[in-house]
Amino acid sequence: MSALSNKRILLGVTGSIAAYKAADLASKLTQAGAQVDVVLTESAQKFITPLTFQSVTGRRAYTDADLWGDEAHVLHVGLGHAADLLVIAPCTANTLAKLAHGQADSLLTVTALASNCPLLLAPAMDGGMYDHAATQENLDTLKKRGAYIIEPAEGHLASGLTGKGRLPETPELIGHIRLLLGRDGWLAKRKVIVTAGGTQEPLDPVRVLTNKSSGKQGYALAQAALDAGAEVTLITTPTSLTPPVGANVVNVQTAKQMLDAVLNESADADALIMAAAVADFRPKTLAKDKIKKEGGVPQVELEGTEDILKTVSSRRSDLKRLRVVAGFAAESQHLLENASNKLESKSLDMIAANDISASDAGFSVETNRVTLLFADGSRESLSLMSKTEVAEIMIERIGKLLG
Ligand code: CTP
Repeated sequence: MSALSNKRILLGVTGSIAAYKAADLASKLTQAGAQVDVVLTESAQKFITPLTFQSVTGRRAYTDADLWGDEAHVLHVGLGHAADLLVIAPCTANTLAKLAHGQADSLLTVTALASNCPLLLAPAMDGGMYDHAATQENLDTLKKRGAYIIEPAEGHLASGLTGKGRLPETPELIGHIRLLLGRDGWLAKRKVIVTAGGTQEPLDPVRVLTNKSSGKQGYALAQAALDAGAEVTLITTPTSLTPPVGANVVNVQTAKQMLDAVLNESADADALIMAAAVADFRPKTLAKDKIKKEGGVPQVELEGTEDILKTVSSRRSDLKRLRVVAGFAAESQHLLENASNKLESKSLDMIAANDISASDAGFSVETNRVTLLFADGSRESLSLMSKTEVAEIMIERIGKLLG
């Protein structure tokens, strides 16, 4: 997760039962390469100890005792100034109120006042407290001042009530952190469309023709584009994956629906990356009712689907903002020759050729080995790497093509 490596994150933890989840957040951020400094309020320490955070971050965790210690005069200013991001998760109604009113009666609130980095708040509290007018007004005040608020999740609350107030799970929190860290990145103000997954072409109400695409490479591309600050539209078929936080998700099933969505979104897009495995054929007729076996083995007649990349390329002169169109070539033989032909026939700026006959690359697995071919005739062979790394390199190259 290079988006987080060497980032300095100041994590404030306040007195909510969800404080235990903050330990997992601190751990995962540290594992992703971030330098995490933790500040606990007095009430947070009723739920969890500084030692827990020190153990997972490998760094000293701070409490109010440090506000009056030897380093006191520089500590709060130093922590706030060094950070790329101040995250308060979980953030109680009490801390929200203090922040909204500029109170500075604890190391965390003094640090928040002294810091000049973006502030991300993840409110977590019991039923009714979040909806209370006082809390909502405090949130409005903080939003107006530029704070980024993560909506609490709905569900079971510690009191036994069900409602809005749960701290979202770590992956979602990290998604918001990445979004905020990346928002001024080199793709800021650029719109990138990514398609992902294998299309499904229905045969009858229960059966579809589909392929082995997992969507992993497309989702990794969407995340990498978000990390670079792009506005991302992810056009996806049904997959088991969770879309990256911040992506505008358009759900589709068939090649035709994907074509319509791509054309609709391309009008104001800067780049299109077709990572989806689009069906080339679909059943010519869709049976209204389930095909029963009593009728014998059905003869399924197929017809061709629309080629999305070719359709987009034929309309490039109308799509004024669309400067980069990239595709994938999934091949089991004559890899570079076929990829080069597709680059030309689909008028692409870049194509990623991947050999799907290898067991460690292509569909479903976590890794990929691709060669990038560019319209100017240049080529770049990437070694075996994670789909995340492939995505980061492709997004960087697309950024260069965008200029
Ligand atoms: N693609 C597309 N529309 C289709 C089929 C594919 O836009 N109907 C895109 C894919 O998303 C990919 C690229 O074209 O980016 C190449 O897809 P691939 O399946 O490798 O090639 P095909 O064009 O389908 O050709 P073939 O099946 O003969 O290999």
